Amino acid sequence: MYCTRKVTDSVTWVGAEDRRLALFENLFPIPRGVSYNSYLILDEKTAVLDTVDAAVTRQYLENVAHTLDGRSLDYLVVNHMEPDHCACIEQLAARYPAMKVVGNAKTFALIRQFYGDDFAARRVEVKENDTLCLGKHTLHFVFAPMVHWPEVMMAYEDSEKLLFSADAFGTFGALNGNLFDDEITFDAAWMDDARRYYGNIVGKYGAPVQAALKKLAGVDVKTICPLHGPVWRSNIPWLLETYDKWSRYEPEERAVAVLYASMYGNTENAANILAARLGEKGVKNIRLHDVSGTHVSELIGEVFRCSHLVLAAPTYNNGLYPAMANFLHDMQALALNSRTVGLIGNGSWAPVSAKKMEEMLAAMKNMTVLQPVVTLKSALDADNLARLDALAEALAADLAR
Ligand code: FEO
Repeated sequence: MYCTRKVTDSVTWVGAEDRRLALFENLFPIPRGVSYNSYLILDEKTAVLDTVDAAVTRQYLENVAHTLDGRSLDYLVVNHMEPDHCACIEQLAARYPAMKVVGNAKTFALIRQFYGDDFAARRVEVKENDTLCLGKHTLHFVFAPMVHWPEVMMAYEDSEKLLFSADAFGTFGALNGNLFDDEITFDAAWMDDARRYYGNIVGKYGAPVQAALKKLAGVDVKTICPLHGPVWRSNIPWLLETYDKWSRYEPEERAVAVLYASMYGNTENAANILAARLGEKGVKNIRLHDVSGTHVSELIGEVFRCSHLVLAAPTYNNGLYPAMANFLHDMQALALNSRTVGLIGNGSWAPVSAKKMEEMLAAMKNMTVLQPVVTLKSALDADNLARLDALAEALAADLAR
């Protein structure tokens, strides 16, 4: 049975949700599920913008058929060719023989790579700023390469001031019946997942996101229709501001997260004591995370949120404890930069973990390591407790600047 919602009188959300998938991209846990958004415009011509993931094909095809209500489908606009959005192109083509496929040169190259056919007979190839008139509605194509893949484009519809934004402004999380941002408490229920989605999926591409935001700067947008998560029609200035901050790698908050790895509890003990000292000095909302038991995508979310980090880890195989090494590798891969970091290393006979963490941070841009760096030999003693106090003092002072 169909499950759709109207975005406006002539635009319908025809997407679908997946709460069965454990790992998005077979990488990222999504305990709150995910939505694959697709939109259908009914005008003199009919157009669908993007499709959905293969897992929800049946629901999707029912949604499209119900919304068309017997009409033919004239256009499929492919804004993004990642398979979580393009998996139903062939099914739509089979069901709607008159349907044209709208994309750019890179879109069609990817269609051929994925499907061995670039739909030459149905192809409508657009260039930047080209338009597609559907009657009262006209789509303007704004290219947004590398937000998240090279072929990505957005479509701005000028009669209703709708922006179909591809992955940009999306988030993990199924919609649960609430399509619009004014139907949910985004801050409380969605923000951690939105940041985690941005940081891990789009986070590497800060410069392309900045370029896209500049292109959109003068555009009057009343509604943003992303490919995942809620449709935005109420709090758009806040959303744009948050995206601007994230894509400049500017932390959301002057706050500290303590991210520790610990084999037998001694490094954790140091992390706990440091956090308690920070609390005593008036630092609020401290968060601690065990990197061994926390998915790295959540740790990346914390780096996007916080101005200050404490990294604490043991030495392992004469190098850095693997869970911490993996996290720092991910931070570097996602181009994270400009954070202030305190370091605690541990090692029982040849401690090198603090040095290894410092080296990995040095490979990232504009990372400031606070002094003193604390190195334990197996467990805290009076000497390194004093250094831990000094690190807490330096962190608290820097946070208060
Ligand atoms: Fe939701 Fe880049 O795909």
